[in-house]
Amino acid sequence: MKIVIVGGTGLIGRRVGQILQESGHEVVAASRSTGVNVVTGEGLDDVLQGAHVVVDVPNAPSFEDGPVMEFFRASTQNLVAAEEKAGVGHHVVLSIVGTDRLPGIGYMRAKARQEEIVRASGIPYTIVRATQFFEFISALADGATEGDVVRLAPVLMQPIAAADVSKAVAHIAVGDALNDVIELAGPDALRLADVAADLLQATSDSRKVVPEISVGYFGGTVTDESLTPGHDDRVTRQLRGATSFSAWLNSIVRH
Ligand SMILES: NC(=O)c1ccc[n+]([C@@H]2O[C@H](COP(=O)([O-])OP(=O)(O)OC[C@H]3O[C@@H](n4cnc5c(N)ncnc54)[C@H](OP(=O)(O)O)[C@@H]3O)[C@@H](O)[C@H]2O)c1
Repeated sequence: MKIVIVGGTGLIGRRVGQILQESGHEVVAASRSTGVNVVTGEGLDDVLQGAHVVVDVPNAPSFEDGPVMEFFRASTQNLVAAEEKAGVGHHVVLSIVGTDRLPGIGYMRAKARQEEIVRASGIPYTIVRATQFFEFISALADGATEGDVVRLAPVLMQPIAAADVSKAVAHIAVGDALNDVIELAGPDALRLADVAADLLQATSDSRKVVPEISVGYFGGTVTDESLTPGHDDRVTRQLRGATSFSAWLNSIVRH
């Protein structure tokens, strides 16, 4: 099968590509560095020629409200229009658990718009909503740092290893389109402030995490139901990653 991975040079895209290539598929990574710009549409028609499946995993260079909305709106519209012309049979998009529950957060609004465009496209699809990646926790800590203090909400989340996300996405990409949403989360519900503190301690980072619910998440108010899976009655399928946060921490500290 020819599988085009949009964002195929990124954290998830690279791993998904490797898994699919190892199982014998023809994989093409599409990103600006390989000559495909999904926001302008440059190179899309060419790369999609003969493609059976598209894995949609690019990310926006800016998470500011306006630019991030424009990124996911334009990229997804361009992509589904080009897929229609090429006769692509399955569009797999990676979204985020809680996307539709957090309209106060610009990034989540942009992902919700991306999901809507995919649903309305007429192309068979599977929407995979993952929780925050373990690999994303350091960026969350950096964004919340003032001096040597990191103010983060002690809110429940159920983070997952990028490797487990990639395995699940690769598996879904070679299956039938579900025309539905799957939630994908790590094995344990943990508090964001605790997870960040554990990461800083394990990496000998001297910053101090101060738990503060009022800081919210990307400026939006969050509760223990915002970022964890299992709260949307319309989502009936759920998958769990096998890697625990502590096992992942041990693995990065050893390397
Ligand atoms: N971070 C999390 O915890 C989390 C949780 C759930 C879901 N997600 C979703 O997972 C997806 C993948 O995230 P990631 O962390 O793997 O992203 P990433 O590592 O930042 O990679 C982004 C990819 O997008 C490509 N890209 C950027 N602009 C592009 C453009 N205009 N045209 C074509 N390609 C472009 C980049 O390559 P070039 O620079 O070469 O263009 C790169 O391959 C995102 O959609 C995100 O919303 C993330």
